[in-house]
Amino acid sequence: MARALFSHSGLRSDEPSCAPNPFTQRTDWDRTENPLTTLLAAAARAGRELTDLTESNPTRAGIVDTEPLVALLGHPRGATYAPISLGHPKARAAVAASFHERGLPAREDRVVLSASTSEAYTWLFKLLCERGDRVLVPAPSYPLFEFLARLEDVELAAYPLVREEGFRIDLGALDRAAEEAQGHARAIVLVHPNNPTGTFVRRDEAAEVGRIAARHGMALIVDEVFAEYPHGALPADRLPSFAGEREALTFVLGGLSKSLLLPQCKLGWTLVYGPDALCDEAIARLELIADTYLSASTPVQLALPELLAARASVQGPVRARTAENLAALDRALVAAGEDAAVRRLPTDGGWYAILEVPRTRDEDAWVETLVREHGIVVHPGYFFDMEREGFLVVSLLPRPEVFARAIEIVVTSVAKG
Ligand SMILES: Cc1ncc(COP(=O)(O)O)c(C=O)c1O
Repeated sequence: MARALFSHSGLRSDEPSCAPNPFTQRTDWDRTENPLTTLLAAAARAGRELTDLTESNPTRAGIVDTEPLVALLGHPRGATYAPISLGHPKARAAVAASFHERGLPAREDRVVLSASTSEAYTWLFKLLCERGDRVLVPAPSYPLFEFLARLEDVELAAYPLVREEGFRIDLGALDRAAEEAQGHARAIVLVHPNNPTGTFVRRDEAAEVGRIAARHGMALIVDEVFAEYPHGALPADRLPSFAGEREALTFVLGGLSKSLLLPQCKLGWTLVYGPDALCDEAIARLELIADTYLSASTPVQLALPELLAARASVQGPVRARTAENLAALDRALVAAGEDAAVRRLPTDGGWYAILEVPRTRDEDAWVETLVREHGIVVHPGYFFDMEREGFLVVSLLPRPEVFARAIEIVVTSVAKG
């Protein structure tokens, strides 16, 4: 994560640079290293081997051999270029079919392909936001939004997820954030399940968020890159996906980087739901945005039906891996004893776990202690905008033998306070 290299937000205030230069203010990032980057650079200089419990690059996790999947991109069919802005019809149909297999409605003429989910966000911001308009984003969540928004001259307003209530959406705060924007709030982003909290939105929350969006003329942008990774059966009150009949214009995002562990293949999809007239207009406008870039490569689009057909053989082992690591984490917590001042926050799915740790030192100090004393890397909660200090985030993707050993040390170490 490039953004994790820099100080927390990575963004400077609105002060212009002193010396005249040809660069935009929107790219005037604060590029000072954050404490973790400095720590890791020092460890690398010292030749220290570290155990990385933040590893979430699926191509390094040794879960499934994806080489045969990547090889599909080498097929000669990819040698001819005949671009179609919204995506090749067979690829769009394959995405729709993958939703049908999950029991979800999807229309292939309402599928838009892009090079990634991140790119899909930027297209949606272009579609929905004038300069200075606002997008409402959850906190805590995935730290890329500030960068994506800044690059499109969009402002963000955070709406809280209430940790004490299982990261329930603070619907009052969401409505107020929309009111305060005085007609300039254009979209609500939901990450479903959220990264790193792992929470799936509850059905009643989803309905209310839809009503709030419709009332304020906003769209929903729902990032479902982790939706196929629940930890077991979802509780009945949770919505498996926003794909379905929706009151507000709704964009459901996904992509190969999580669904098939192929971030390097660069393909994302956006499905459009909601009132027909709005969907049709959105698709027509997105077609022109997509036509401007034509960014999804032909080889990956043509391989998509075969790639998606292999989904189950990839996702099963990933779910087994996250379950095994979660179980190892829970065993370590049980071993630490009931009185230990460390616990895992409940999660419904995804690739991460959050540990609540004693606030006897701040998160950076915990991270530093774990690196210096044990050679183990974890992320501080503030990288994800947790509402206060006292949280560490780990990935559930590392190899089980490595994860089990390291997480036991982490738990034992923080349990001492
Ligand atoms: C919640 C979430 N959305 C989107 C992405 C990026 O996906 P893509 O590779 O399709 O841009 C990530 C990557 O970590 C993520 O965690």
